[in-house]
Amino acid sequence: MKVSINNIKKYYNDKLVLDIEKLEIEKGKITGIIGPNGSGKSTLLNIIAGLDDEYTGTVSYDQSVINSKPYDRMTLVSQKPYLFKRKVYLNIEYPLKIRKFNKEDIKNRVNKVISRLGIEGLRDKKAHLLSGGESQKVSLARALVFEPELLLLDEPTSNIDPESIKVLEREILNFNRETGATVIIVTHNLEQSNRICDNIIYLEKGRVTY
Ligand SMILES: Nc1ncnc2c1ncn2[C@@H]1O[C@H](COP(=O)(O)OP(=O)(O)O)[C@@H](O)[C@H]1O
Ligand SMILES: [Mg+2]
Repeated sequence: MKVSINNIKKYYNDKLVLDIEKLEIEKGKITGIIGPNGSGKSTLLNIIAGLDDEYTGTVSYDQSVINSKPYDRMTLVSQKPYLFKRKVYLNIEYPLKIRKFNKEDIKNRVNKVISRLGIEGLRDKKAHLLSGGESQKVSLARALVFEPELLLLDEPTSNIDPESIKVLEREILNFNRETGATVIIVTHNLEQSNRICDNIIYLEKGRVTY
C-alpha cells in the first residue's frame, strides 16, 4: 500500500507539531522515520494509522478516496502496546478472529508467528503480566499474523535485548520480502534503520529535513 501525504498540519493547543507539505511512502518498501524526541514521529504515525483525525491536509492510500480508508488492511504497533488481559495466544489470534479466518488457518498462522518470533515460552502467559519487551514482541506478533498491507511500527525494539532485536529485525524484513507489505518504522537507532530500511525520512520539529 502506498501512502501519500499532502499539506499536513497538526497543532497541539497553539503549537505546530507537524508541518509536512508532501511525503510519499513507497509501496512494498521499508521506510524508516528518524528524528529526536518530540519531533513528531509518533504524531505522524498515528495520523497515518487513522487514530488521529484532528489535523488539516490529506493522507491517501494507493490514491484511494479519503472516505474509504482501508483501516482493516493496516495496523499500528505502538510504543506502549495495549494487550487484553488474557493469554498471549488469544491476543495474537484476535485480529484473525475479527476478520473471520477459519479455525485451521488461525491455528497455523498463530503457531507460525509464535515460532518465528521465538516466543513459544510466552504463549500461555497472561498478557498483562509480561515485561515491556515481551509485550512489544507479542504486539508485533499480533500485527504480523494477519499480514497487513501497511505495517506501522513505533520504536518496536526500544525495550528489547540485543539478541531479540536481531530476531525481530529479521522477521520484519522477512515479512516485508515475503508479502510485499509496506512497512514504516520509527526508530531512534540509526544503525537499525541502516540495517533494515530501504528509505529513510528525517523529521525535525515536525518538518521533513531529509
Ligand atoms: N496529547 C498531546 N498533547 C499536547 N502535546 C502533545 C501531545 N502529544 C504529543 N505532543 C507534543 O507534540 C510533539 C510531538 O510529539 P511526538 O509525536 O510524540 O514526538 P516523537 O514521537 O517524535 O517523540 C511534542 O512536542 C509533544 O510534546
Ligand atoms: Mg514517539
